[in-house]
Amino acid sequence: MALPRWALDGGYRAAMRPLLFRVGGGDAETAHHLTLRRMAQLGDHPAAVRSLAAALPRPAGPVEVAGVRFPGRVGLAAGVDKDGLGVKVWEHLGFGHIELGTVTAQAQPGNPQPRLFRLRGSDAIINRMGFNNDGARALADRLAAAGPRGIPIGVSIGKTKATPVEDAIGDYLTSLALLDEHADYFAVNVSSPNTPGLRTLQDKEPLAELLAELVTATAARSRTPIFVKIAPDLTDGAIDDVLEVAQRADASGIIATNTTLSRDGIAEVDLPLADEAGGLSGAPLTRRSRYVVQRIAERSKLPVIGVGGVMTADDGRALIDAGASLVQIYSGFIYRGPALVAELNRALAP
Ligand code: FNR
Repeated sequence: MALPRWALDGGYRAAMRPLLFRVGGGDAETAHHLTLRRMAQLGDHPAAVRSLAAALPRPAGPVEVAGVRFPGRVGLAAGVDKDGLGVKVWEHLGFGHIELGTVTAQAQPGNPQPRLFRLRGSDAIINRMGFNNDGARALADRLAAAGPRGIPIGVSIGKTKATPVEDAIGDYLTSLALLDEHADYFAVNVSSPNTPGLRTLQDKEPLAELLAELVTATAARSRTPIFVKIAPDLTDGAIDDVLEVAQRADASGIIATNTTLSRDGIAEVDLPLADEAGGLSGAPLTRRSRYVVQRIAERSKLPVIGVGGVMTADDGRALIDAGASLVQIYSGFIYRGPALVAELNRALAP
């Protein structure tokens, strides 16, 4: 029987979260890697996974977006499980899809540590990870070994840091070719603030060129839908340009939004961390991502995956009301755990 919501929420906050936040001497990244490693081990024990599944609520009802059938509206945002270590487990935590990555054509270490900061008084995170990942081929191998999964798998692709931005298209095409047979959709990440030059790929001309090549590549093969993930810091005019380009290129949808460079909404107790370079996520992003989702929905027919500052069921509902078809969580999951997934599944049942 599924655990009641109070037990899930209370259990995570009272027992799991303090433990997780203390692992690795309280270092956020060590805790993250240890948790993913444990998930990978758990994934190799089907009986344990089955008992986990029995205790947690399931995704609540299917929705079809861009021709893909999702068993529920709540997904895991990119960056949580870049290399797909927990690929056999996420679906049992109630997620209706997962977005793995961002991966790049070449494996790379990312930025020097520390590069991940919890702003606990603000329900927020600042990160400048810089696409640390094992590379597209390693993810393809891991997905091949895992076999078919019960939920759609999105794969977020980005540019290798060492590849000049002028050569970005080749880099994205390499990842796309390696991962096409394993992805139910691709997320083209042109919005991370932590790879120098990456965000310039959101500009009209480079984006048009990039999307044309990627859509042509999948059209010839798999017709895997291509979503574009955008920054919350774009002006209204720049959002409209992205919509025009995405529609003209026959992209399948938009993911809004990535982390912000803004530092608005940080509580006083966290101000000492506000100067850390990187992208801010969590509660300070709630209103801005809602605005961007609404603008996209009002001005285009493209499906939207809403992400940014979903910390409660009401936040998720507001993104759906603003026009999103699906929602994703990262920071909310770190602060609230599987209870948030359960709460969102209940609130967003189609
Ligand atoms: C991210 N995010 C992210 N996005 C992406 O497209 N590719 C990535 O590799 C990452 N990596 C990443 C690492 C860390 C530590 C964080 C906190 C975030 C952004 C994430 O997917 C999401 O768009 C934002 O975090 C906003 O959602 P939340 O966190 O407010 O729910």
